[in-house]
Amino acid sequence: MLTMNRFMRKLVLRVLQFNSNIRRRLSRPVSVVGTRELQAQFVTVTQLIESRFSAIGEESHPCRPSLELLLGKLETREVSRGLIIETGSFAWGVGSTLLFDKFALLQSQRENCRWDIATCDIRIEAVNGIEKTCSSRVTATCDDSVAFLQRVSDNSRDEYDLRFVYLDSFDVDFGNPEPAAVHCLRELIAIRPLLRRGDYMLIDDTPIAISNLWGESALAAKRYIDAHGLTPGKGMYANLVLECDPHARKIYHEYQVLWVID
Ligand SMILES: C[S@@+](CC[C@H](N)C(=O)[O-])C[C@H]1O[C@@H](n2cnc3c(N)ncnc32)[C@H](O)[C@@H]1O
Repeated sequence: MLTMNRFMRKLVLRVLQFNSNIRRRLSRPVSVVGTRELQAQFVTVTQLIESRFSAIGEESHPCRPSLELLLGKLETREVSRGLIIETGSFAWGVGSTLLFDKFALLQSQRENCRWDIATCDIRIEAVNGIEKTCSSRVTATCDDSVAFLQRVSDNSRDEYDLRFVYLDSFDVDFGNPEPAAVHCLRELIAIRPLLRRGDYMLIDDTPIAISNLWGESALAAKRYIDAHGLTPGKGMYANLVLECDPHARKIYHEYQVLWVID
């Protein structure tokens, strides 16, 4: 019975993914909006971060300091409408989409402050998961992240006064980082024209040094550095471009890298 259920589940997912791929090719990607009623549980970003990382059982996760720094910075800004744009929805990471949704809820307790979240993932399973996990502040689109960012960039009118972009799609292999790094660079090129003074961009899986890695990843990175002289990571090419951008300033770099537009 269990095997049959698993088989049916796989079959349904395949059909949904097939449908979503066709819609993507027709430039009419599937989008869903969250339906969960979230209850306000926190009054500070520190409490929110504490709770998210203890929920995934990784209190000292390498993404924690950067996400805490970033949300702390967003919290101090006077925002009436903010937009979080994410590539790589809630999956085998820290559950970033839910974290951002809860941040938006926290901020909504301030007068006249609303944050929306636009997330995208190439897997329909991740996108459908958002419907049950997140609130109506979140819209999830099943699409390739470069096409998604291009559309967001082209269609966005000036309705938001602050934007934060989180790049966490294509998983990086630290021994062969180019595919993920090229993809991330294409994401940057698609979204950069939308960014204005004061906006932030955070890129995951972009260690500043081997000391930010562990186990097999550290060994693979060491081999890559010895061969190419560059620390491998998702944002390794995007960083090179941002370093030449007169309006981009790096404000944090450990496992993730955080940029602000000046
Ligand atoms: C590391 S996970 C994202 C984790 C998520 N940010 C979190 O914290 O839970 C990477 C996600 O990117 C998605 N992905 C991979 N390639 C993609 C692409 N070209 N466009 C959009 N999403 C992609 C994968 O399906 C996967 O769900």
